[in-house]
Amino acid sequence: MINIRKAAIIGCGFVGASTAFSLVHKGLFSELVLIDADQKKAEGEAMDLSHGRPFTSPMHIYAGSYDDISDCALIIITAGANQKPGETRLDLVHKNIAIFKTIIPEITKRDFEGILLIVANPVDILTYAALKLSGYPKERVLGSGTVLDSARFRYLLSEHLTVDSRSVHAYIIGEHGDSELAVWSSSNVSGISINDFCELRGHYDHEQAMNRIYHTVRDSAYEIIDRKGATYYGVAMAVSRIAESIIRNEHSVLPVSSLLNGEYGLRDLCISVPTIVSGKGAEQVLEIPLSTDELEKLKSSATELKEVLGSVI
Ligand code: LAC
Repeated sequence: MINIRKAAIIGCGFVGASTAFSLVHKGLFSELVLIDADQKKAEGEAMDLSHGRPFTSPMHIYAGSYDDISDCALIIITAGANQKPGETRLDLVHKNIAIFKTIIPEITKRDFEGILLIVANPVDILTYAALKLSGYPKERVLGSGTVLDSARFRYLLSEHLTVDSRSVHAYIIGEHGDSELAVWSSSNVSGISINDFCELRGHYDHEQAMNRIYHTVRDSAYEIIDRKGATYYGVAMAVSRIAESIIRNEHSVLPVSSLLNGEYGLRDLCISVPTIVSGKGAEQVLEIPLSTDELEKLKSSATELKEVLGSVI
């Protein structure tokens, strides 16, 4: 039986702990289980977060074990090595696949019927690995993908245009990593195409601005890791937004990573494109209009991911 008010986070490093913090403030759950190979770390985080109880909606937060997960509606996996300065997300693949080979069987051994949300990097590869290792239907396994990258994109566009980022509709798709791409062709602010909106706001050098914004988005994690050693608040907020759409059955369109089955001519890999996210998980992958150049870039991003998949799975 699924308890829709219960979630687990596996991995209580910076990303897991920040995700827990963000979820506490969303008030989506009444029970949150924290699991970590280092039980003491999970206990410390649970204690620290529980001390905020009088300031938030009631939520029982505790350090648990895999025996606590069977009735969870959602399991969020952040466990794994993270990027060091100079490392790409793909450099983490061998270490983190090995970790997933121990975590996923612990989950499938129990009668878990909820959604698996993968956050650890390289997220597209690990989402695919989790799907294969678990044998769950494809809807039930999704990755945080380019939800964060799309938020970074909307934020930078909003700064450039001095408009609320919530009014900017724009996606980063493809790998959550170096081969991701910006979908400029459909980017808009309240239905006004991005280039027209730029001109309304006094910006005319589109080529230069597009290049700068795309590269800033793509390299954000490197810039943050250089300065503070890791990224965690942004991804935590992206994850709790995805959790919200799942738990409230919102059917929000979010660029999560999930299995493609012929969409965009791609199959048998997990990659991010706009997807309807509901109580079923990644309910429906959407084929949005792309320019020829964008489709080309999406395909080469998929080719890069396939090469990595071929070497590890
Ligand atoms: C980032 C990490 C989560 O992009 O990959 O910040």
